[in-house]
Amino acid sequence: MQNIQNDRPISLPFFGIPRIAPYMRPYRRTLTMMVICGLGGSAVDILMPLLQRYALNHFIAGNTLDTLPVYIGIYFLAIVFAAVMNFISCNGAMSTEVRVNRDLRSAAFDHLQTLSFSYFNQNSVGYIHSRVMSDTGRIGSLVSWSLMDCVWHTSYLIGSLVVMLAINARLALMVMVILPLIVVLYSLFQKHLITANRQIRELNSRITGDFNEGITGAKTIKTLVIEDRMARDFVRDTAEMKQKSIRAARLRGAFAITMNLASSLALAIVLWQGGYIAASEVGTFSMFMSYAQGMMEPVRWIVDAISDVITTQVNIERLTRLLLTRSDVVDSPEVIEKYGDSFSPKKENWEEIRGDIEFRDVSFRYPDGDEYVLEHFNLSIPFGSNIAIVGETGAGKSTLVNLVCRFFEPTEGSVLIDGRDARERSQLWLHSAIGYVLQTPHLFSGTIRENLLYGNPNATEVEIEKALKLVSADEVVARMEKGLDTDVGEGGDLLSTGEKQLISFARAILADPRILVLDEATASVDTLTEQKIQSAMDAVIRGRTSLVIAHRLSTVRNADLILVVKDGKIVEQGTHQQLLEARGPYYRLYTRQYEDEATSSILA
Ligand SMILES: Nc1ncnc2c1ncn2[C@@H]1O[C@H](COP(=O)(O)OP(=O)(O)O)[C@@H](O)[C@H]1O
Ligand SMILES: [Mg+2]
Repeated sequence: MQNIQNDRPISLPFFGIPRIAPYMRPYRRTLTMMVICGLGGSAVDILMPLLQRYALNHFIAGNTLDTLPVYIGIYFLAIVFAAVMNFISCNGAMSTEVRVNRDLRSAAFDHLQTLSFSYFNQNSVGYIHSRVMSDTGRIGSLVSWSLMDCVWHTSYLIGSLVVMLAINARLALMVMVILPLIVVLYSLFQKHLITANRQIRELNSRITGDFNEGITGAKTIKTLVIEDRMARDFVRDTAEMKQKSIRAARLRGAFAITMNLASSLALAIVLWQGGYIAASEVGTFSMFMSYAQGMMEPVRWIVDAISDVITTQVNIERLTRLLLTRSDVVDSPEVIEKYGDSFSPKKENWEEIRGDIEFRDVSFRYPDGDEYVLEHFNLSIPFGSNIAIVGETGAGKSTLVNLVCRFFEPTEGSVLIDGRDARERSQLWLHSAIGYVLQTPHLFSGTIRENLLYGNPNATEVEIEKALKLVSADEVVARMEKGLDTDVGEGGDLLSTGEKQLISFARAILADPRILVLDEATASVDTLTEQKIQSAMDAVIRGRTSLVIAHRLSTVRNADLILVVKDGKIVEQGTHQQLLEARGPYYRLYTRQYEDEATSSILA
């Protein structure tokens, strides 16, 4: 299975509408109601000038009031009928919009859950967010409001033309001559208006971006002394914004005037040709004036709706691409058959996991990378052992543990868990047995307690306390005014990185995983706390297979095995003592860091 990249175009026939049709199907009854009521409403719109004609011809020109009560009754009924039709069709459009939007979002959201780590590695949060939020929004409004506009206004236009033709074909044809003119004029203007509006929207988001950077990056801006440069950018963008906005306003003005002119032209035709209508037919004259003037708006709405269909195609394509994206890491049908998928795991078939890990001739290249990070890599980790991985930044340490966690799969070779290829069992099976603490920890919004319970929903108060204490996170909690009930903010942003690391560490412990992966998990924790964690480490890793990527080498001294990784290869392995005696790369790394630390503590 391959990942469909963002930039690869996919083209959909019929503006992508067939792709969206399945999402409209559940609401076909509402949509039908909406269309029927739209037709009813537009019938009243067509009827009004006819009623007016009758009044003028009959009551005024005929100088009688004989049918007046009936007339008033019909008029009143028509108004009430129109209001009801209007209400039902708008209601239908609104509810369809909301529901299609919701369905698309949940389809996108559910699909995102099935995608692997690597998708999120390659697509920014902003990109995904706008697929899920704005694309679905555009599509929702297309299948409701644009559809309704199209039905309503097209039927009005056709109906009024038919009535005009029936009453006075000659005059009707004269009035119809200007229709193509309006369509062309409006389409021209509309294109420019859309461009102008888009430019303004883009500028606006750039200015908002500048603004955000100015605030979130304020400290960095000040330390780099680039305030003037940032201010210059801001001034330039806002000046451009002003210029573009004025241009757009002018365009809108010119547009309004042109449309007014076109409408006056239609009136002029009626006045000019209408002169031939008999005086007793003054109502017909007025009816034509109403229809002629009433033609402008529908044309506008129809052109708008058509252009919505065209512009929304992009949104449909992008959303479709997301929905068609297959994860790099997928469970085979046989595996799903036996072990279930993420939404319905068949836990009864899951084997107990022990925690043996083996890399067998693994070569690995990132899906978007062209160089191999690992080549013919072999390593066997028996369960219960405590492995430390050290090496320079970019050596491939995180890649190794990503493969263990099956966030990525080997390009060649295999990773074995308990002696069997990881691909023979479900991702969920593996993930439910792994605790992973990242260098960049993530907490969910909510309280500290809620976050800890993600590790194990059934954890008792005592277990929570114990886990916190084990990783010295109890002190963090004790410092908080509300203790465990402290709100961590969105993404945990109210806590420092070090604090987040400790909480996510405790969360991983609570899950009681067979395999524990710590990827520079304490890199942002102060040295004193790290020492405390270090002394508790024995208790943390007992009975588990652990892979610890160490940021400070002093923390890995007790590991069963230390792997020194360089350029995706193990260049040295052994215990701390053995490696120091070997005087190789580990010794050099160690002494260098030791000296660095000594220097900085002297300086401090
Ligand atoms: N998602 C990715 N896509 C492409 N290349 C990556 C990705 N992550 C890491 N790499 C590359 O793989 C190599 C190893 O990275 P990594 O395993 O993160 O190193 P370490 O954790 O030791 O600092 C680096 O050259 C890095 O640029
Ligand atoms: Mg790393």
